[in-house]
Amino acid sequence: MIDIHCHLMVGVDDGAEDLDEAKKMIKLAKKEGINEIIVTPHYTSRLKVIYDNKFEEIQKIALQEGVMLHRGCEYKLQDALVQKSDLITLGGSDYVLIEITQGFLAEYVLNQVYELKLCGYEVIIAHPERSFEKKDIDKLKKLAEMNVYFQLTAASFIGAFGRQIKKFSEELLERGLCHFIASDAHNKSSRQFYFQEAKKYLKDTYNEHWQIDLLFEQNQKAILNGSGEFTAQRLTRKNFLKRLLGSIGRYG
Ligand SMILES: [Fe+2]
Repeated sequence: MIDIHCHLMVGVDDGAEDLDEAKKMIKLAKKEGINEIIVTPHYTSRLKVIYDNKFEEIQKIALQEGVMLHRGCEYKLQDALVQKSDLITLGGSDYVLIEITQGFLAEYVLNQVYELKLCGYEVIIAHPERSFEKKDIDKLKKLAEMNVYFQLTAASFIGAFGRQIKKFSEELLERGLCHFIASDAHNKSSRQFYFQEAKKYLKDTYNEHWQIDLLFEQNQKAILNGSGEFTAQRLTRKNFLKRLLGSIGRYG
């Protein structure tokens, strides 16, 4: 699988504290079945100066563990607009990872996202399930109609951020408003990858297993190979009997 949102870079944000922690995170990722990671430190003005050195030091470790790293960054929308002539994209593609921290989706925010698209970027909104609420769903639909994409967090589906966020994550998934599932991993303990646990939960809960696989790997490949062919179909819940049989191993 491919993780497109991960704070693995050392000493640049609230992610990995030192190289030892980064190495442990890479080992955990490998255990979860993740073979490629796009490293997405939070943007700061000093990041660009130190980026290459910081990337190379973790890339060496990752290669030893059999994990391929790609460059990336997580921008607050306001920072991305200021830096728009020269953003660090995901794996050198046209895609940028954008965090919206306003807490609600005002109309002007939609215009700002559109402004980024006019600069030639494809926009992926990081963890909308943690940034917004149910009342924002019509605006999220509007963004999806503008070909803006959504990355949900694996941990959200297993309740790591609470019941409300879990429920909202599922609603987004059921409305076809999820294009990627990523970790947003920050450390080796409380903010890990949780890919296997989330994938199992989703496969136990929903009918469309092939679509779940797309959300953990195939859509990510479409970013890295430049095809941009994403699928975000609405997921439908298994009925009670199917879930029960699945849990005792008689039905996938
Ligand atoms: Fe993040």
